[in-house]
Amino acid sequence: MKENVKEILLTEEQIAARVKELGAQLTAEYEGKDLVVVALLKGCAWFVTDLTRAMDLPMRVDFMVASSYGDGTTTSGKVNVKLDLSCDIEGKHVLLVDDIIDSGVTFAAISDMLKERKPASLKTVALCDKAARRINGLDADYVGFVIPDAFIVGYGLDYAQEYRNLPYIGVLDPKVYA
Ligand code: IMP
Ligand code: MG
Repeated sequence: MKENVKEILLTEEQIAARVKELGAQLTAEYEGKDLVVVALLKGCAWFVTDLTRAMDLPMRVDFMVASSYGDGTTTSGKVNVKLDLSCDIEGKHVLLVDDIIDSGVTFAAISDMLKERKPASLKTVALCDKAARRINGLDADYVGFVIPDAFIVGYGLDYAQEYRNLPYIGVLDPKVYA
């Protein structure tokens, strides 16, 4: 597994420090608000568990499974919801969490879907942002790291469902998907 990581982009320590900062910022943002954290599985699982533990607030945490990727490295452009929320978000402040914003298609589609349910507010946070690849001009409200345009794995991010359990984020050797 590790031999296919060409370069470590973000160490375990760098990720932990940045997640703590984001947690503090979000604690200030959502103080006194009825918050529902919506995590987009599976990639976000590692990030959201650390992020919510860095947020000193009452909250609900719920999950959605949405996918636009096959086993390739670029988006198919369509977002399928395979598992929906188990709670009602009407009138709640919703924080949508994902591991990475790339084309922006996932956040755009899920945000549109959730807005129809009339939340009091809807904001987005992504641990990583491949800003150069955006196709719809949509940015996340909170971003952990702006990263270069390379296919990355680890800390939840997968290639063909593998590598999620690496504790750091690394650039996958292109020979793996060539
Ligand atoms: P978007 O819809 O193109 O913004 O892509 C968001 C989703 O694509 C993320 O939730 C990831 O599952 C996946 N993704 C995008 N870039 C990468 C990457 O470099 N490594 C692993 N997954 C990625
Ligand atoms: Mg994902």
